[in-house]
Amino acid sequence: MIRQTIAIAGSAVLFAVLGVGVAMGHRAQKGDAAKGKEVFEQCQVCHNTDTDEKKMGPSLKGLFKRKTLQNGKPVNDENVLAQINNGGNGMPAYGDMLSADDKANVLAYLHTL
Ligand code: HEC
Repeated sequence: MIRQTIAIAGSAVLFAVLGVGVAMGHRAQKGDAAKGKEVFEQCQVCHNTDTDEKKMGPSLKGLFKRKTLQNGKPVNDENVLAQINNGGNGMPAYGDMLSADDKANVLAYLHTL
């Protein structure tokens, strides 16, 4: 009986751990805007986020409220990520400079602008 109780308690702990793991995995995939803001510090030299004023690159204020990017493609996660990965037209390519997590986080941050 005691063994059974321990087994049940044990599996409850296991499920709790798995649950947290899944929740954290999900969050990493969706990106963490607060962490993304830190990643974005290196982008701020060229991009404003609180005014529409252009620096080296266009302001990213309200980016995801716009219809198209400067390159004419629709604003969505895929195309914004492509811009970050490949750069171009005066923007450095970040494909190898940022981890997948950094990119997911910075994307989440860009959604808040
Ligand atoms: C050296 C300056 C520079 C840095 C640093 C830089 N960018 Fe850019 N970025 C640009 C320029 C210039 C463009 C415009 C490219 C074009 O016209 O196609 C641009 C375009 C963009 C766009 C598309 C905006 C639009 O409206 O089309 C996004 C999104 C973007 N950058 C995000 C970032 C992120 C995120 C970082 C940091 C990881 C970053 N940039 C770092 C110069 C920079």
